[in-house]
Amino acid sequence: MDKIRIRGGQPLRGSIQISGAKNAALPLLAASLLTDETLTLRNLPHLDDIATMTHLLAQHGTEVSMAGDHPGGGHMGHVLDLRTAKVSRTEAPYDIVRKMRASVLVLGPLLARCHQARVSLPGGCAIGTRPVDMHMRGLAALGAEIALDDGYIAARAPGGLRGGVVVFPRVSVGATENLLMAAALAKGETVLENAAREPEVGDLANCLNRMGARIEGIGTDTLRIQGVTRLSGADYTVLPDRIETATFAIGAAITGGDLTLLGGRPELIEAAVASLGQANVGIEPVAGGIRVFRNGTGVASVDVTTEPYPGFPTDLQAQMMALMSVADGAAMITETIFENRFMHVPELVRMGADITVKGATAMVRGSTGLHGAPVMATDLRASVSLVLAGLAAEGETVVNRVYHLDRGYERLEEKLMGCGADIARLIE
Ligand code: EPZ
Repeated sequence: MDKIRIRGGQPLRGSIQISGAKNAALPLLAASLLTDETLTLRNLPHLDDIATMTHLLAQHGTEVSMAGDHPGGGHMGHVLDLRTAKVSRTEAPYDIVRKMRASVLVLGPLLARCHQARVSLPGGCAIGTRPVDMHMRGLAALGAEIALDDGYIAARAPGGLRGGVVVFPRVSVGATENLLMAAALAKGETVLENAAREPEVGDLANCLNRMGARIEGIGTDTLRIQGVTRLSGADYTVLPDRIETATFAIGAAITGGDLTLLGGRPELIEAAVASLGQANVGIEPVAGGIRVFRNGTGVASVDVTTEPYPGFPTDLQAQMMALMSVADGAAMITETIFENRFMHVPELVRMGADITVKGATAMVRGSTGLHGAPVMATDLRASVSLVLAGLAAEGETVVNRVYHLDRGYERLEEKLMGCGADIARLIE
């Protein structure tokens, strides 16, 4: 199992190209099931999760071909042509779904197009039980018959889905995305209330409209969809990854560096920009991206509570905790989205951080310095918080189980090495 070794103390200086957003790319890939024409997706990140999703689609009958290169050269596959002339299989098997929960995003499209689907329950993961009850209840409101059968969601909609009103009891990115794709081909009007407003949901809605869907209210918490009888192909470019952008912004802050994040869009990370500004981190828009730097003073402690967009993103909570571990005071970090998203705490504590967890809140008392240690990655964002801490720590840090990282960060060590980090991947 690969590891990443970091020798801390080098300020990150230079520029980093931000990749396309993983959490936009995954639903966009699933949307290719909705049409028998070609959907071309550009600026796709080169990640294990993208490969898993294309593998899942291929077993449903989607032809996937790589076209073109990443704008910055190097890795292949940043442009994919996807064509599902015919859905050959409406089952998403456990052995694929268990590897990536986002596989559940084929449920809505398969139901919409084929009027049936059998999708393995994704199961939980390290950060929580991750139920999909809102996906199922929402699709039932559009006329689907949903049953649980041997760990699978067995769904059918003889005669097709029909429009309906869905009020989500809590904000769910995935449920909103599944319902958007299902409603696009349902008969009549669907209204989604308390819908997720994440930019990745907006990216999906914009792409669906380019495919001929009729979705209004994009960016708001009420989405209105007039179903259409068919969708066409389209050519769509995935938006930049706001979590990667903010992760590297914290990298500049925690190492006392100065980074230009090319392709980063400040309007997608307003809550993070506000918190980092309060922490004395300099952030300014520059041509083609965002510049992040330390403005000479120490990092100030800032309280953070994670919330659905446009609040502070839960996917940035672990990274912010690493930064607060070297700040000059005490910060309270409250996680409201997932029930178990503090697994990075014991690993940061092993590096010298002073963190006390009580329920959903962690009290982080900034310390003078972290020291390197062998640490264990447990989930995607916890992993990257350990890398950030290692960049600032005195001495050597080895992060184990970096397969978590490869799921969500494209060529992380290359990007950091290019900005002066002493970082290497140890191939086991
Ligand atoms: C998406 O997950 C992201 N993944 C997550 O990013 C992100 O943390 C999360 O949204 C919140 O922003 C992708 O987009 C692929 P939710 P999703 O449905 O859709 C509960 C990363 O690191 N819930 O918004 O699964 C759920 O348990 C990943 O890139 C139900 O109870 O998240 C959670 O507590 C991690 N029933 C809360 O809602 C449901 O039917 C929000 O979950 C659905 C969700």
